Amino acid sequence: MNNKQDIIDYLNDNKQKDPLFILGDCADILNSMPDNSIDCIITSPPYWGHRLYSGGGIGLESSYNDYVSDLLKITNELYRILKPTGSFWLNIGDTYRNKKLLGIPWRVSIKMMDEQNWILRNSVIWNKHKGGLDSSKDKLRNIHENIFHFVKDEKKYHYDTSKIRSDARKTIIKNGAVISATGVSGVRYKRQIELSTALTDEEKKNALSELNNVLERIKNNEISDFRMIIRGQQRTTHSDSEKVSGRAKELAQKGFYFLFYHPDGTLPGDVWEIIPEDTQKRKEHYAVYPEDLCKIPILATCPKEGIVLDPFSGSGTTSLVALRHNRKSIGIDISEEYIEFSNERINEYKHANSGVLQLFNEE
Ligand SMILES: C[S@@+](CC[C@H](N)C(=O)[O-])C[C@H]1O[C@@H](n2cnc3c(N)ncnc32)[C@H](O)[C@@H]1O
Repeated sequence: MNNKQDIIDYLNDNKQKDPLFILGDCADILNSMPDNSIDCIITSPPYWGHRLYSGGGIGLESSYNDYVSDLLKITNELYRILKPTGSFWLNIGDTYRNKKLLGIPWRVSIKMMDEQNWILRNSVIWNKHKGGLDSSKDKLRNIHENIFHFVKDEKKYHYDTSKIRSDARKTIIKNGAVISATGVSGVRYKRQIELSTALTDEEKKNALSELNNVLERIKNNEISDFRMIIRGQQRTTHSDSEKVSGRAKELAQKGFYFLFYHPDGTLPGDVWEIIPEDTQKRKEHYAVYPEDLCKIPILATCPKEGIVLDPFSGSGTTSLVALRHNRKSIGIDISEEYIEFSNERINEYKHANSGVLQLFNEE
């Protein structure tokens, strides 16, 4: 099989949405991929010292320093093949040795930034809620992993927040009165302003007038929700120093300020609550990540016509989620068994969802 030609044909085929799985060491396969050809990389390399799976590859090094440098050779190639508009999402776990937590995710990440020019946009905590068996008597259970979002170009990278905002909150009409999505009608703020001993008469007048404007905007559905912070009333979460915080300044100068909620819903935060469900009939110890882990990366950072890559694709989860969202993808794995399993998994999905895929194709 000529991997290089297969990859080039696949990249050029605009109709194809089925994933391409390639068997091999990603260090070799990535070498044969063109510069700036991939939109979104999502991957979870084998963790150092955790390896249970067959087939050799990364993670078996005798020292963690060797592991970090092996991984950096791969991230260097990924930098070359990622488009300037692209994103790289790296899920990586840590390891204890002789009671010492090694900090491997950050060791890799800092070298990527310092030595390879990657720009880190988010460090996401994946809260798994449950960990492996842990009988420690002198430390906490470990239930999180890191997911780093890297880009090559902080100005050019594709990011579509509209695809990942939670449901838009809507203004509600209750007993004839307009109230915000979370039930704020302004009555309590009005009372607080009128009874305030911390505001001057002039400040009270301005606060009431601006509050009325905001309520008018709620009525017209221009904003769905708001909070008002009034001097001496609400607790603030920002610094009280006017040098540090613009809000502290506003509070000192005007006596109040507003917080507005985006009408299209809120952006997800950087702590993801995803329980690692084993949704497959697994024969082996696949360190599979949940499908939900790939959802935000694909929706926000891979354009509709884009292509996703997972260089350590394991059971093919990244490609399955890419297909669910009508994106092309390439998965590479060193284990023949996992490549076969991935192809079976995709075929089962296509069989069960032929109607949905037909709709995609007609779009
Ligand atoms: C943590 S698993 C990935 C699991 C995957 N995210 C999933 O959901 O199934 C890491 C994978 O990397 C593969 N691997 C290890 N070294 C490799 C290499 N040099 N090139 C390609 N794949 C490799 C292993 O076979 C394993 O399937």
